[in-house]
Amino acid sequence: MHFTESAAVQRLPQHFFATLVQKVNQKIATGADVINLGQGNPDQPTPTNIVKAMQAAVAKPENQQYSPFAGLPALKQSVATYYHDHYQVDVDPETEVAILGGSKTGLVELPLAVLNPGDRILLPNPGYPDYLSGTHLADVEVELVPLRASNHFLPDYDKISTKSKQLAKLLYLNYPNNPTGAVATADFFAETVQFAKQNQIGIIHDFAYGALGNHQQPLSFLQTPGAKTVGLEFSTLSKTYNMAGWRIGFAVGNPDLIAALNDLQAQLFVSVFPAVQEAAIAALTGPQDSVTALAQLYTTRRHAFETAAAEIGWKATPAGGSFFSWMPVPSGYTSESFADLLLEQAAVAVAPGKGFGSEGDHYVRIGLLTSPARLREACQRIGKLQLFQPHHE
Ligand SMILES: Cc1ncc(COP(=O)(O)O)c(C=O)c1O
Repeated sequence: MHFTESAAVQRLPQHFFATLVQKVNQKIATGADVINLGQGNPDQPTPTNIVKAMQAAVAKPENQQYSPFAGLPALKQSVATYYHDHYQVDVDPETEVAILGGSKTGLVELPLAVLNPGDRILLPNPGYPDYLSGTHLADVEVELVPLRASNHFLPDYDKISTKSKQLAKLLYLNYPNNPTGAVATADFFAETVQFAKQNQIGIIHDFAYGALGNHQQPLSFLQTPGAKTVGLEFSTLSKTYNMAGWRIGFAVGNPDLIAALNDLQAQLFVSVFPAVQEAAIAALTGPQDSVTALAQLYTTRRHAFETAAAEIGWKATPAGGSFFSWMPVPSGYTSESFADLLLEQAAVAVAPGKGFGSEGDHYVRIGLLTSPARLREACQRIGKLQLFQPHHE
């Protein structure tokens, strides 16, 4: 028998970075010592207190049963307490918090949960590629909003046409931003709430790198007056606590959006393994020194990389957070041809910016997910290719 994929699955975009992984593996197979800066997988271990909480939670019989459909009430309460303590934002744990098997799950589910075929959604360009998965599954019309260096990688709402403002139902934002590392200001978020209210467009803020500020704690969108009613903020434990493999995240905000997510999830899953939810409670309510240390670690790595890059004449775009550096492509190259050159001739893998959207084609993304020594070595290898004008003191 022969089966074909559904129209929905056939609509899904090709995974751009699968090709990069293949090329890197081919290079490694030749025996090359590849410095892989192309991925976004946290390299540090989960803090011990969380691992221990998980070990204890697995042994409890009640955690071996089904979870309540919408997740453990105690976890939702911990999320509410976290928002209160970190951001002075009060949320109702029952109606304003949804538990997710990783924030990607919620970001992909949301268009299916609240949009209809033909509805329009505004997505950032460049942006996290997985936003497109949910919109394609839901057969939603996508309009890309450019994020440019000239506007600090924030959307310029004045440049969105009146027609688009009338048609769009949701706008996705993400600060600290993947891939650019840009952060949002309080003024920008205030303007965003105004934009949402004026045009009746829901704001979906992806706060995956919310704990990873470069010197300063990033702002939560929900700290903005009025934000909680106009949209949602998605968070994940993947980056904050190095728990990417554990698959746990949450959404906080507008009760209608939360209810829609919970309704869809009740059909698809029986929430997350209760032991993982208990470990998440330990993470959110336990000591946060590991988080401070992690943000500091990425800041140190950023400094090491961007200083070494500057020495070879390669100037990073300013970044306020995340664990990425967003580096310009020298003239004469596309992001893909430049990434290919770096892999072939310097054995350094970087992510071509085009994989995040057409606006990314003048950049490559560097993951600061290895030691300062390796990051410096990557720059030294690239420096030997003499692609930039080095600065002389
Ligand atoms: C911008 C952004 N959002 C969301 C996610 C998804 O994180 P998770 O599904 O692990 O919570 C990632 C992961 O790389 C990301 O970079």
